[in-house]
Amino acid sequence: MRIIICENYEELSEKGAEFFKAQVTLKPDSVLGLATGGTPVGLYKKLIEYNKNGSLDFSRVTSFNLDEYYPIAPDNDQSYRYFMNENLFDHVNIDKTRTYVPDGLAKDPEAQCKAYEALLEEKGPVDIQLLGIGRNGHIGFNEPDEKLNAVTHITGLTESTVEANARFFADISQVPTKALTMGIGTILKSKKIVMLISGKEKHEVLSELLNDDITTKNPATLLKVHPDVVIICDKAAYEG
Ligand code: GLP
Repeated sequence: MRIIICENYEELSEKGAEFFKAQVTLKPDSVLGLATGGTPVGLYKKLIEYNKNGSLDFSRVTSFNLDEYYPIAPDNDQSYRYFMNENLFDHVNIDKTRTYVPDGLAKDPEAQCKAYEALLEEKGPVDIQLLGIGRNGHIGFNEPDEKLNAVTHITGLTESTVEANARFFADISQVPTKALTMGIGTILKSKKIVMLISGKEKHEVLSELLNDDITTKNPATLLKVHPDVVIICDKAAYEG
């Protein structure tokens, strides 16, 4: 794992966006793996800026998001589909029919997960995967556990994740307690992984990531087996 330490969130967002810009410039029909949460918002703003000034063309890009709450409607303003439209897709020249997010309304969630994994097999591999990290080390919605799931699956959210995500909802009772998420194996199939870590509340989890242990109790540590991971963090996360 390579680590880039930035002065602040602005610099982190710019550095992260540069990786995506370079990827799409080198391979205009790239498959991008995308993430939600507060952390990538600044990076998406930069990508919109590049698209508007003509230096980044999304017209041939395909994208796959990591996860989606379950159950949730795509037009619910807390859904990850809505988040992606608002924070990126509606502002760039991407073909929305090639932007994939797991279906939060699927009648049969297990079948939806299988179909998502199959679609990734067909259109992938993901060229570059963007990741944030939960305070407990979750990636996508792969929560710490005795065992982790390799493929796209339906999962329950831990209490701490529901609490952390409650800030986006009117009240905590509205936070869905389940989600559909790529598995650890799905994520590790990406050719390159860029993880953004910002803020001092992520210091502990980042420190764990920088020691040599791999443990399912901190799912992000599994990334250490991948040959091309870049962690972009700010000083607040690095120094605590
Ligand atoms: C959610 C998402 C993750 C994200 C995490 C951290 O749980 N499923 O993909 O990394 O939140 O979010 P934030 O960047 O807001 O701390």
